[in-house]
Amino acid sequence: MKKFLKDALTYIDDRFKLSALLEFAKKKKVPEHKHSIWYYFGGICLFLFIVQVITGILLLLYYSPSVDSAYESVQTLMSRVKFGWLIRSVHSWSANILIGAIFIHMFSAFFLRAYRKPREFTWISGFFLLLIFFAFGFSGYLLPWNELSFFATRVGTDIAGTVPVIGQSIKTFILGGPEISDVTLPRFFWFHVAILPLFTVVILGVHLVLVQVLGMSKPLSLPEDKVREVPFFPNFILKDMLGWLLILVLVGVLCVFLPWEIGQKADPFAGTPLGIKPEWYFTFMFTTLKIIPSHILFVEGEVLAILGFMVGGLLWMLVPFLDKKASKEKKNPFYTWVGAFILLYIIVFTALTYLLPDL
Ligand code: HEM
Repeated sequence: MKKFLKDALTYIDDRFKLSALLEFAKKKKVPEHKHSIWYYFGGICLFLFIVQVITGILLLLYYSPSVDSAYESVQTLMSRVKFGWLIRSVHSWSANILIGAIFIHMFSAFFLRAYRKPREFTWISGFFLLLIFFAFGFSGYLLPWNELSFFATRVGTDIAGTVPVIGQSIKTFILGGPEISDVTLPRFFWFHVAILPLFTVVILGVHLVLVQVLGMSKPLSLPEDKVREVPFFPNFILKDMLGWLLILVLVGVLCVFLPWEIGQKADPFAGTPLGIKPEWYFTFMFTTLKIIPSHILFVEGEVLAILGFMVGGLLWMLVPFLDKKASKEKKNPFYTWVGAFILLYIIVFTALTYLLPDL
């Protein structure tokens, strides 16, 4: 038996060269940080993404992407398919926790200055992943074709339509016409299950290869030769896996006590119900658009806010190239203040959405 196993391993290794991978894994080390908890969030994002892929494939077995049958197929899944409600709840809760984990991972990379040379493109690929996961959330929200998702999509795409010059074209591209219609749902479906996963595989691949090739950033507070390193296997990965287990428990508890609901079927001819809001991760932008004055210096407030978010997003993506001076001085508090301001803005404006229900 022992000989058979050895021969089998040699056979596989001769063909797939797995021992080279094992050698790399054995040598891989991770710098020790004072607050190392922030370094587990990249792995948590990865774990939740895998959960999304598995549960998404299971949902595909029952979901029907047409206006006449989407809502009913989700209803059947939840009431007649064994554990269908659980798979749907895990998919929805873990999608939300994934976006939260991406935010935490991104802000920790920002505050720890992990984007600095040579990791500029790790940051930029991460930024694209953020946009892709926003698009996953937006497209997935409409798929059950319920009242809330229908009107939130209408509100969201109306906002996209107000972008100067290209807004209407973006809106038509997303919806497949000037308004939400029969063709919109299949379009969102294909974005959600084919186009976005394809982009994710490529960009996530680049992100992870860069992390492996460049190694993880070292703490700025210590000189290079004083930084201690721990082996990735087994020290770091065991803690990584403990984090995944805790997240899985959290998802499980949420699914059991707060199963994802389905609501009422969408009626495109009904008036927009009061208090319709987008998903929580878009609300800081939504609330800004709601409370900005209608005109600021002859320019429409909403247009100004949208332009502000677009320019802000671009600067955020380019931060590794802007924070040049700081890389020499090591401690430039300017970017810490910028990050703190943006984080506070997002938290306050997200909270305002729920504290001011009449928005
Ligand atoms: C689904 C989305 C994402 C996944 C699965 C992911 C995954 C990972 C993993 C596994 C690591 C290595 C472990 C760690 O440092 O935590 C990492 C590192 C990194 N990520 Fe991401 N990431 C995602 C999104 C982002 C975003 C949105 C940004 C920023 C805009 C970003 C920027 C970075 C940077 C700069 C590093 C290097 C950290 C260092 O060297 O200290 N990532 N990512």
